[in-house]
Amino acid sequence: MKPIKVGLLGIGTVGSGTFKVLQRNQSEITRRAGRGIEIAMVADLDVERARLLTGGACKIVNDANLVVTDPEIDIVVELIGGTGIAKELVLKAIANGKHVVTANKALLAKFGNEIFAAAQAQGVMVAFEAAVAGGIPIIKALREGLTANRIEWIAGIINGTSNFILSEMRSKGLAFDTVLAEAQKLGYAEADPTFDIEGNDAAHKLTIMSAIAFGIPMQFEKAYLEGITKLTAIDIQYAEQLGYRIKLLGITRRTEQGIELRVHPTLIPAKRLIANVEGVMNAVLVKGDAVGATLYYGAGAGSEPTASAVVADLVDVTRLHTADPEHRVPHLAFQPGSLADTPILPISEVVTAYYLRLRVADQPGVLADITRILADASISIDAFLQKEPAEGEKQTDIIMLTHLTVEKRVDAAIAKIEALYTVLSKVTRIRLEELS
Ligand code: HSE
Repeated sequence: MKPIKVGLLGIGTVGSGTFKVLQRNQSEITRRAGRGIEIAMVADLDVERARLLTGGACKIVNDANLVVTDPEIDIVVELIGGTGIAKELVLKAIANGKHVVTANKALLAKFGNEIFAAAQAQGVMVAFEAAVAGGIPIIKALREGLTANRIEWIAGIINGTSNFILSEMRSKGLAFDTVLAEAQKLGYAEADPTFDIEGNDAAHKLTIMSAIAFGIPMQFEKAYLEGITKLTAIDIQYAEQLGYRIKLLGITRRTEQGIELRVHPTLIPAKRLIANVEGVMNAVLVKGDAVGATLYYGAGAGSEPTASAVVADLVDVTRLHTADPEHRVPHLAFQPGSLADTPILPISEVVTAYYLRLRVADQPGVLADITRILADASISIDAFLQKEPAEGEKQTDIIMLTHLTVEKRVDAAIAKIEALYTVLSKVTRIRLEELS
């Protein structure tokens, strides 16, 4: 059978990895897919570089429109990124009856509902394994491997840049800004790192996993985002003394009231496997009712790890493209007519535990006032740490871990605590998950 023809939009880091992996493993990939997979066309603004990378093996153009409209092309691989031109091209490819493979998490988290509806109407596939956690086959696991389960929750370290920064802050006791500068020097963080360190990138990935896990539409706009920029080395140290590590987690959980969809720094017990995921690596913990907890670990970015996911999607599409669309795995794991309208909970309604750090005057009655406010709010203390005041100082840090509490109650209690004249600065509040 003649090879299936692929058009690549963008031959940067992931595109060149895709080209290399397809070439290097061509014979095994063909044996798996049942026919060859050939990159027949590449669109890139840097035509010369694209020519060098592909060694004249395929047609190079600088206008991506020529790829998405070319009748020879069966599958379009979108690796441009962003939600501007990439969205136009993906929709145009679908309208032209092409299957699409994309690594674009922002595009799917924000416009996935529109894109999947268009694909459904055209009877084409949109595959996106590379959009979440790079080379880790988490989409395949959630959509197919765990399909027997009622998924209860997912917690993931899904941004390598942030995880690298937090790992370095913990192991070297350095400040956030110092480590960010180092990460930029090493090429782990972008010149503008906002999307990584403020939680946007993780929230895009979490939105996609949540939709697949619970059979709901993509609802990125309802996700709660809090990044790592305000974390201090001292909180990382105190957490460690209490047996916890701080990670930027994406958490989505099904509750009776609705679905939690939140990205924020989180204390997790140091003894959990996921707490020991360090550097730029990613890991996703999924709790299913039948299987229990399962953990997926690997490279969340990089040329060939991400290409691994792109090529897996190319093989899937190649195997299934002649199948009746009704018999393919639905884009969001659940049949399109069976998506649920379960609400996404606002952060104020989320139930979790908390780490609280208070800077207080070291004088009688301070602790009594604070614990009275917590008791009146029915917030139960799980652990407590008080530091000795530094030499000659009359103030100190108090650290408390609470049991599970609804967030709005903690917010109200913190406001009252901050109003005490013996509490000398704003309360540091970090959420805590046992992940048990
Ligand atoms: N910038 C991401 C990270 C990888 O740091 O994990 C691509 O989503």
